[in-house]
Amino acid sequence: MAKQNIDKKIPQHVAIIMDGNGRWAQQRGMERPEGHIAGVEAVRRVLKAAVVEGVKYLTLYTFSTENWGRPKEEVEAIMELFCKSVVAETPELKSQGVRAKIMGDRSALSEKVNHYIDRIESETADGERITPIFALNYSSRHEITETFKQMAQRVAEGKLAPESITSEVISQNLYSCDYPDPDLVIRTGGEYRLSNFLMWQSAYSELYFTPTLWPDFDKESLHEAIEAYAGRNRRYGLVEAK
Ligand code: IPE
Ligand code: IPE
Ligand code: MG
Repeated sequence: MAKQNIDKKIPQHVAIIMDGNGRWAQQRGMERPEGHIAGVEAVRRVLKAAVVEGVKYLTLYTFSTENWGRPKEEVEAIMELFCKSVVAETPELKSQGVRAKIMGDRSALSEKVNHYIDRIESETADGERITPIFALNYSSRHEITETFKQMAQRVAEGKLAPESITSEVISQNLYSCDYPDPDLVIRTGGEYRLSNFLMWQSAYSELYFTPTLWPDFDKESLHEAIEAYAGRNRRYGLVEAK
């Protein structure tokens, strides 16, 4: 796990529910996939801005396990856009020292998408400036269910003692085991919900909601969210130190 930022005012890990792509497109008389294309531009912008802010981990909710229920054309467009973006963005990510990771259930993703996941992760593996984590075919309940199944299996095989299960052990078995918990969770697009995102990991995260639609989110928007975070008082259930 990376060291905590010295400056407590800078969140080490920011997680974003990138919502509002569809509405952004519809407001412009465009088809919803156009909104996702604009959303990729916002990812590029915000990733650069996050480096400048000193953020080390940036988890981006890219596609939820529930999003499979959308019209087939939209799902296909999102998957295609992911693959195309890997090809288009990888050289720049490498040159910027970005290490890209994907988090989620890969088994339901096509062979092609899995190929591009391997490609972006291996080609950017040496990056040290920032780790964006794309949550793809991700949802918290699915992640926790898979973790429980896997741990129950190990208990059944006598490889895991039930009394040794602590909240740390559970954290170490989630998809997110290599990353610290998010300090700040941002949701764009005006809704006030988590939509099955990082529910275990965000137990003590600061939450920030903005009506800005994801394709309009920019470096100033990120800075505002981080300023708001800097003004928060994280108590973790304790009383304030005098
Ligand atoms: C978020 O934007 C992107 C994904 C869920 C893939 P939406 O597509 O949910 O946009 P709205 O909420 O319909 O505007
Ligand atoms: C959450 O947005 C998922 C992603 C941003 C990938 P949704 O648009 O799917 O969430 P709901 O339907 O508003 O809860
Ligand atoms: Mg939405």
